[in-house]
Amino acid sequence: MAAASSFSVMYVFVVVISILGSSTYAQLSTNFYSKSCPKVFSTVESVVESAVSKEPRMGASLVRLFFHDCFVNGCDGSILLDDTSSFTGEKTAGPNNNSVRGFEVVDAIKAKVEKACPGVVSCADIVAIAARDSVVKLGGPDWDVKLGRRDSKTASLAAANSGVIPPPTASLSQLINRFQAQGLSAKDMVALSGAHTIGKARCVLFRNRIYNETNIDSSFAKLRQRNCPRTSGSGDNNLAPLDVKTPNSFDLEYYKNLLNKEGLLHSDQVLYNGGSTDSLVKTYSSNEKKFYSDFVTAMIKMGDITPLTGSNGEIRKNCRRPN
Ligand code: HEM
Ligand SMILES: *[C@@H]1O[C@H](CO)[C@@H](O)[C@H](O)[C@H]1NC(C)=O
Ligand SMILES: *[C@@H]1O[C@H](CO)[C@@H](O)[C@H](O)[C@H]1NC(C)=O
Repeated sequence: MAAASSFSVMYVFVVVISILGSSTYAQLSTNFYSKSCPKVFSTVESVVESAVSKEPRMGASLVRLFFHDCFVNGCDGSILLDDTSSFTGEKTAGPNNNSVRGFEVVDAIKAKVEKACPGVVSCADIVAIAARDSVVKLGGPDWDVKLGRRDSKTASLAAANSGVIPPPTASLSQLINRFQAQGLSAKDMVALSGAHTIGKARCVLFRNRIYNETNIDSSFAKLRQRNCPRTSGSGDNNLAPLDVKTPNSFDLEYYKNLLNKEGLLHSDQVLYNGGSTDSLVKTYSSNEKKFYSDFVTAMIKMGDITPLTGSNGEIRKNCRRPN
């Protein structure tokens, strides 16, 4: 009996050690560049700082860039690759075309980081650090970013269009399922949606909500209708803030809006519409500490989605193309 159980303990031990030691499995770590590029944090931060000072929305755009990178084949910088005559990447995919922003800021960061430490820091890691710095710059929580991701050599338009990134028309169960498919819980999903406390959305994506839905505050709907005509095709790209009150502050107002039926997107309001996530929305709406702490946990989890590590992928010289 004793011999049998010590044998199985030994067996588990050996299996765990061999998984940890295998070259295809490597962990990200917060000190990945501490020797090879100690200036990476101050360098990224200085560029984010000036970009967000110039245009606060850019902070929102950089946070979303990280989300859209991570949800399509992991956080591998694939979203940054430009199309060429022989290759179509993720930039023109439905969720990204005319929508995702921040590529010039990533270029500026990459150029500065390459000067400090050539060929060392991946574009995927730059996006992760820039997302954190943006949240901090807009008044949100701070955290240590895990690093060591490498860049993909390719990108997948089909994957970006496959529905892995949920559309704003998604139901609550669709949102939960799509996050679950990435290893993220319903709680992670509700906390991450709190990023809609910053940034803007286009009329075409909330038109049906402000004209047709009933779980919406009527004066809020009227306010949004003023700059988003009913007729499809007119004013499609007109912008409205996702958070009606404080669009440039990373705060808990997003959740308060949901309690007031002032969610801009259908996919926002479903989080507080009589379903399983109502209580969490209520909690976050009055407990900033809890929102921040769950948001940070979920951002770190999202940043862990199938990174390329070890000898997989490459460190791109230019974030827009493979080496
Ligand atoms: C839960 C599912 C989600 C849906 C359905 C969704 C959908 C959208 C849509 C439709 C827009 C506006 C795009 C446009 O007008 O072109 C948007 C903007 C934004 N999203 Fe999400 N999103 C989701 C989750 C997230 C997550 C997880 C994050 C980050 C952690 C995020 C961060 C943002 C930010 C910051 C903006 C504003 C970007 C800007 O102003 O440039 N979203 N989202
Ligand atoms: C992306 O948007 C442009 C307009 O800026 C449009 O011409 C093009 O057809 C769109 N691409 C796709 C694949 O939808
Ligand atoms: C409202 O819903 C109807 C029926 O689904 C649809 O045909 C119409 O385009 C919607 N209106 C707007 C402004 O989205």
